[in-house]
Amino acid sequence: MAEFTGKTVLITGGGSGMGLATAQRLLDAGADVVLAGRSEDRLESAVKDLDAGDRVLAVPADVSRTADLDRLAARIGERFGGLDGVFANAGVAGFSRSADVTEEDFDGLVGVNFKGVYFTIQKSLPLLRDGGSIVINGSWLTHRGLAFTSVYAATKAAVINLARTLAPDLGVRGIRVNAVSPGYIVTEMFEAISTTPEAQEECRSHVALGRLGSAADVADAAVFLLSSRASYITGQEIVVDGGLTTSVPL
Ligand SMILES: NC(=O)c1ccc[n+]([C@@H]2O[C@H](COP(=O)([O-])OP(=O)(O)OC[C@H]3O[C@@H](n4cnc5c(N)ncnc54)[C@H](OP(=O)(O)O)[C@@H]3O)[C@@H](O)[C@H]2O)c1
Repeated sequence: MAEFTGKTVLITGGGSGMGLATAQRLLDAGADVVLAGRSEDRLESAVKDLDAGDRVLAVPADVSRTADLDRLAARIGERFGGLDGVFANAGVAGFSRSADVTEEDFDGLVGVNFKGVYFTIQKSLPLLRDGGSIVINGSWLTHRGLAFTSVYAATKAAVINLARTLAPDLGVRGIRVNAVSPGYIVTEMFEAISTTPEAQEECRSHVALGRLGSAADVADAAVFLLSSRASYITGQEIVVDGGLTTSVPL
Protein backbone atom coordinates (compact mmCIF):
# COMPACT_ATOMS: atom_id res chain seq x y z
CA MET A 1 0.00 0.00 0.00
CA ALA A 2 1.35 3.46 -0.90
CA GLU A 3 2.42 5.70 1.99
CA PHE A 4 -0.50 8.16 1.68
CA THR A 5 -3.28 5.79 0.67
CA GLY A 6 -6.53 6.86 2.36
CA LYS A 7 -5.08 10.26 3.33
CA THR A 8 -6.28 13.68 2.19
CA VAL A 9 -4.05 16.76 2.06
CA LEU A 10 -5.02 20.39 1.46
CA ILE A 11 -2.49 22.47 -0.48
CA THR A 12 -3.04 26.22 -0.72
CA GLY A 13 -1.40 27.70 -3.78
CA GLY A 14 -1.68 24.18 -5.18
CA GLY A 15 -2.19 25.34 -8.75
CA SER A 16 1.46 26.12 -9.48
CA GLY A 17 5.08 25.94 -8.38
CA MET A 18 5.90 24.14 -5.15
CA GLY A 19 2.23 23.54 -4.32
CA LEU A 20 1.63 21.76 -7.62
CA ALA A 21 4.86 19.73 -7.34
CA THR A 22 3.80 18.66 -3.84
CA ALA A 23 0.36 17.66 -5.15
CA GLN A 24 2.02 15.46 -7.78
CA ARG A 25 4.29 13.79 -5.21
CA LEU A 26 1.35 13.17 -2.85
CA LEU A 27 -0.81 11.71 -5.62
CA ASP A 28 2.08 9.42 -6.58
CA ALA A 29 2.17 8.31 -2.94
CA GLY A 30 -1.56 7.48 -2.93
CA ALA A 31 -3.12 10.61 -1.36
CA ASP A 32 -6.21 12.54 -2.37
CA VAL A 33 -5.42 16.24 -2.68
CA VAL A 34 -7.33 19.50 -2.43
CA LEU A 35 -5.89 22.44 -4.37
CA ALA A 36 -6.87 25.98 -3.40
CA GLY A 37 -5.91 29.21 -5.15
CA ARG A 38 -7.47 32.39 -6.51
CA SER A 39 -7.27 31.79 -10.24
CA GLU A 40 -9.78 29.29 -11.60
CA ASP A 41 -7.80 28.99 -14.85
CA ARG A 42 -4.65 28.07 -12.97
CA LEU A 43 -6.51 25.46 -10.92
CA GLU A 44 -8.18 24.03 -14.01
CA SER A 45 -4.86 23.65 -15.77
CA ALA A 46 -3.30 22.04 -12.67
CA VAL A 47 -6.14 19.51 -12.45
CA LYS A 48 -5.60 18.69 -16.12
CA ASP A 49 -1.84 18.24 -15.65
CA LEU A 50 -2.27 16.06 -12.57
CA ASP A 51 -4.79 13.89 -14.44
CA ALA A 52 -5.89 12.01 -11.32
CA GLY A 53 -9.68 12.11 -11.69
CA ASP A 54 -11.69 12.43 -8.51
CA ARG A 55 -8.60 12.16 -6.32
CA VAL A 56 -8.12 15.89 -6.91
CA LEU A 57 -10.56 18.56 -5.72
CA ALA A 58 -9.83 22.14 -6.82
CA VAL A 59 -11.53 24.96 -4.95
CA PRO A 60 -11.11 28.62 -5.89
CA ALA A 61 -10.36 30.49 -2.66
CA ASP A 62 -8.42 33.55 -1.56
CA VAL A 63 -6.64 32.61 1.67
CA SER A 64 -6.67 36.23 2.85
CA ARG A 65 -10.48 36.02 3.16
CA THR A 66 -11.83 33.96 6.02
CA ALA A 67 -15.20 33.57 4.28
CA ASP A 68 -13.39 31.82 1.40
CA LEU A 69 -11.60 29.56 3.88
CA ASP A 70 -14.93 28.65 5.52
CA ARG A 71 -16.31 27.76 2.09
CA LEU A 72 -13.17 25.75 1.30
CA ALA A 73 -13.47 23.81 4.56
CA ALA A 74 -17.13 23.07 3.86
CA ARG A 75 -16.28 21.72 0.37
CA ILE A 76 -13.53 19.50 1.80
CA GLY A 77 -15.84 18.22 4.51
CA GLU A 78 -18.54 17.34 1.97
CA ARG A 79 -16.17 15.63 -0.43
CA PHE A 80 -13.60 13.89 1.76
CA GLY A 81 -15.00 14.12 5.31
CA GLY A 82 -11.71 15.31 6.82
CA LEU A 83 -8.02 16.03 6.33
CA ASP A 84 -4.77 14.35 7.31
CA GLY A 85 -2.44 17.11 6.21
CA VAL A 86 -2.27 20.78 5.26
CA PHE A 87 0.44 22.46 3.21
CA ALA A 88 -0.07 26.19 3.91
CA ASN A 89 1.95 27.19 0.89
CA ALA A 90 0.13 30.09 -0.81
CA GLY A 91 2.15 33.27 -0.81
CA VAL A 92 2.84 36.45 -2.72
CA ALA A 93 6.07 38.39 -3.13
CA GLY A 94 6.54 42.15 -3.11
CA PHE A 95 9.87 43.88 -2.77
CA SER A 96 10.71 47.56 -2.43
CA ARG A 97 12.74 49.99 -0.34
CA SER A 98 11.21 50.41 3.12
CA ALA A 99 10.76 54.12 2.39
CA ASP A 100 8.50 53.23 -0.54
CA VAL A 101 6.28 50.57 1.08
CA THR A 102 2.64 51.69 1.04
CA GLU A 103 -0.08 50.65 3.46
CA GLU A 104 -1.66 48.74 0.59
CA ASP A 105 1.61 46.84 -0.10
CA PHE A 106 1.93 46.05 3.60
CA ASP A 107 -1.66 44.86 4.03
CA GLY A 108 -1.48 42.80 0.82
CA LEU A 109 1.63 40.88 1.89
CA VAL A 110 0.55 40.43 5.50
CA GLY A 111 -2.98 39.49 4.41
CA VAL A 112 -1.87 36.57 2.25
CA ASN A 113 1.42 35.46 3.76
CA PHE A 114 0.60 35.74 7.47
CA LYS A 115 -3.15 36.13 7.97
CA GLY A 116 -3.76 33.68 5.12
CA VAL A 117 -1.52 31.00 6.63
CA TYR A 118 -2.89 31.60 10.13
CA PHE A 119 -6.53 31.18 9.14
CA THR A 120 -5.83 28.39 6.64
CA ILE A 121 -4.60 26.42 9.63
CA GLN A 122 -7.29 27.57 12.06
CA LYS A 123 -10.15 26.84 9.64
CA SER A 124 -8.66 23.41 8.84
CA LEU A 125 -8.52 22.31 12.46
CA PRO A 126 -12.08 20.96 12.74
CA LEU A 127 -11.35 18.79 9.68
CA LEU A 128 -7.84 17.74 10.61
CA ARG A 129 -7.70 14.30 12.20
CA ASP A 130 -5.69 13.75 15.37
CA GLY A 131 -2.17 12.77 14.35
CA GLY A 132 -2.30 15.00 11.28
CA SER A 133 0.51 17.15 9.94
CA ILE A 134 0.74 20.83 8.97
CA VAL A 135 3.57 22.22 6.86
CA ILE A 136 4.05 25.96 6.37
CA ASN A 137 6.03 27.46 3.49
CA GLY A 138 8.58 29.92 4.91
CA SER A 139 11.65 31.38 3.20
CA TRP A 140 15.43 31.53 3.37
CA LEU A 141 14.98 35.30 3.70
CA THR A 142 14.37 34.93 7.42
CA HIS A 143 17.98 33.75 7.77
CA ARG A 144 19.72 36.52 5.82
CA GLY A 145 18.62 40.13 5.60
CA LEU A 146 18.17 41.05 1.94
CA ALA A 147 17.49 44.69 1.12
CA PHE A 148 13.97 45.52 -0.11
CA THR A 149 12.35 42.46 1.52
CA SER A 150 11.42 44.04 4.87
CA VAL A 151 7.71 43.21 4.79
CA TYR A 152 7.88 39.93 2.85
CA ALA A 153 10.64 38.52 5.08
CA ALA A 154 8.78 39.58 8.23
CA THR A 155 5.65 37.71 7.09
CA LYS A 156 7.78 34.61 6.58
CA ALA A 157 9.42 35.01 10.01
CA ALA A 158 5.91 35.21 11.46
CA VAL A 159 4.77 31.96 9.88
CA ILE A 160 7.95 30.06 10.72
CA ASN A 161 7.35 31.17 14.31
CA LEU A 162 3.84 29.74 14.03
CA ALA A 163 5.36 26.30 13.56
CA ARG A 164 6.99 26.70 16.98
CA THR A 165 3.96 28.08 18.83
CA LEU A 166 1.39 25.80 17.22
CA ALA A 167 3.50 22.71 17.88
CA PRO A 168 2.65 22.60 21.60
CA ASP A 169 -0.84 24.04 21.00
CA LEU A 170 -1.78 21.23 18.61
CA GLY A 171 0.61 18.60 19.98
CA VAL A 172 -2.07 17.63 22.50
CA ARG A 173 -3.97 16.21 19.50
CA GLY A 174 -0.82 14.63 18.03
CA ILE A 175 -0.87 17.20 15.23
CA ARG A 176 2.63 18.18 14.09
CA VAL A 177 3.46 21.64 12.72
CA ASN A 178 6.66 22.31 10.76
CA ALA A 179 7.99 24.67 8.11
CA VAL A 180 9.97 24.29 4.90
CA SER A 181 12.06 27.31 3.94
CA PRO A 182 12.98 27.36 0.27
CA GLY A 183 16.03 29.09 -1.17
CA TYR A 184 16.08 30.20 -4.82
CA ILE A 185 13.48 27.91 -6.42
CA VAL A 186 12.60 28.28 -10.09
CA THR A 187 8.85 28.93 -10.16
CA GLU A 188 6.61 31.66 -11.57
CA MET A 189 7.32 33.73 -8.46
CA PHE A 190 11.09 33.46 -8.86
CA GLU A 191 10.94 34.21 -12.59
CA ALA A 192 8.78 37.28 -11.96
CA ILE A 193 11.48 38.64 -9.64
CA SER A 194 14.66 37.43 -11.35
CA THR A 195 13.62 38.31 -14.85
CA THR A 196 16.94 38.10 -16.73
CA PRO A 197 19.47 35.27 -17.22
CA GLU A 198 22.05 37.54 -15.55
CA ALA A 199 19.86 37.99 -12.45
CA GLN A 200 19.27 34.24 -12.24
CA GLU A 201 22.99 33.54 -12.66
CA GLU A 202 23.72 35.96 -9.82
CA CYS A 203 21.33 33.98 -7.59
CA ARG A 204 22.85 30.66 -8.66
CA SER A 205 26.36 31.88 -7.87
CA HIS A 206 25.48 32.11 -4.16
CA VAL A 207 24.32 28.50 -3.90
CA ALA A 208 26.81 25.94 -2.55
CA LEU A 209 25.37 23.17 -4.74
CA GLY A 210 25.84 25.37 -7.80
CA ARG A 211 22.27 25.17 -9.09
CA LEU A 212 18.94 26.85 -8.55
CA GLY A 213 16.34 24.71 -6.80
CA SER A 214 13.30 23.08 -8.38
CA ALA A 215 9.76 22.94 -7.04
CA ALA A 216 10.25 19.17 -6.65
CA ASP A 217 13.22 19.75 -4.29
CA VAL A 218 10.87 21.52 -1.88
CA ALA A 219 8.00 19.11 -2.50
CA ASP A 220 10.20 16.23 -1.32
CA ALA A 221 10.83 17.98 2.02
CA ALA A 222 7.17 18.95 2.42
CA VAL A 223 6.00 15.40 1.70
CA PHE A 224 8.51 14.02 4.21
CA LEU A 225 7.16 16.35 6.92
CA LEU A 226 3.58 15.43 6.01
CA SER A 227 4.39 11.72 6.23
CA SER A 228 4.56 9.35 9.19
CA ARG A 229 8.33 9.13 8.58
CA ALA A 230 8.47 12.51 10.37
CA SER A 231 6.24 11.36 13.23
CA TYR A 232 8.54 12.68 15.99
CA ILE A 233 9.35 16.01 14.30
CA THR A 234 7.37 19.10 15.23
CA GLY A 235 8.04 22.82 15.68
CA GLN A 236 10.94 22.59 13.21
CA GLU A 237 12.04 24.20 9.99
CA ILE A 238 13.79 22.44 7.11
CA VAL A 239 15.74 24.89 4.96
CA VAL A 240 15.78 23.64 1.35
CA ASP A 241 18.28 26.02 -0.20
CA GLY A 242 21.24 24.11 -1.63
CA GLY A 243 23.47 25.68 1.03
CA LEU A 244 22.55 29.28 0.21
CA THR A 245 22.13 30.50 3.78
CA THR A 246 24.97 28.59 5.45
CA SER A 247 27.88 28.52 3.01
CA VAL A 248 30.20 30.65 0.93
CA PRO A 249 30.47 28.94 -2.48
CA LEU A 250 33.87 28.51 -4.17
N1 LIG B 1 10.24 30.62 -5.52
C1 LIG B 1 11.06 30.94 -4.56
O1 LIG B 1 12.27 31.17 -4.82
C2 LIG B 1 10.58 31.02 -3.13
C3 LIG B 1 11.54 31.14 -2.12
C4 LIG B 1 11.13 31.16 -0.80
C5 LIG B 1 9.79 31.02 -0.49
N2 LIG B 1 8.86 30.92 -1.48
C6 LIG B 1 7.46 30.71 -1.07
O2 LIG B 1 6.98 29.51 -1.65
C7 LIG B 1 5.56 29.54 -1.74
C8 LIG B 1 5.13 29.02 -3.11
O3 LIG B 1 5.56 29.91 -4.12
P1 LIG B 1 6.11 29.43 -5.52
O4 LIG B 1 7.53 29.85 -5.61
O5 LIG B 1 5.74 28.00 -5.75
O6 LIG B 1 5.37 30.43 -6.51
P2 LIG B 1 4.01 30.39 -7.34
O7 LIG B 1 4.07 29.37 -8.40
O8 LIG B 1 3.76 31.80 -7.70
O9 LIG B 1 2.94 29.89 -6.27
C9 LIG B 1 2.23 30.72 -5.40
C10 LIG B 1 0.80 30.17 -5.35
O10 LIG B 1 0.08 30.84 -4.33
C11 LIG B 1 -1.21 31.12 -4.84
N3 LIG B 1 -1.73 32.29 -4.14
C12 LIG B 1 -1.21 33.54 -4.10
N4 LIG B 1 -1.99 34.34 -3.38
C13 LIG B 1 -3.05 33.59 -2.96
C14 LIG B 1 -4.20 33.86 -2.20
N5 LIG B 1 -4.45 35.10 -1.71
N6 LIG B 1 -5.07 32.86 -1.96
C15 LIG B 1 -4.84 31.62 -2.46
N7 LIG B 1 -3.76 31.30 -3.19
C16 LIG B 1 -2.88 32.28 -3.44
C17 LIG B 1 -1.01 31.39 -6.33
O11 LIG B 1 -2.20 31.13 -7.07
P3 LIG B 1 -3.23 32.30 -7.45
O12 LIG B 1 -2.41 33.47 -7.90
O13 LIG B 1 -4.08 31.68 -8.51
O14 LIG B 1 -4.00 32.58 -6.20
C18 LIG B 1 0.06 30.37 -6.67
O15 LIG B 1 -0.50 29.14 -7.07
C19 LIG B 1 5.16 30.98 -1.45
O16 LIG B 1 4.66 31.08 -0.13
C20 LIG B 1 6.47 31.74 -1.55
O17 LIG B 1 6.48 32.90 -0.77
C21 LIG B 1 9.23 30.92 -2.79
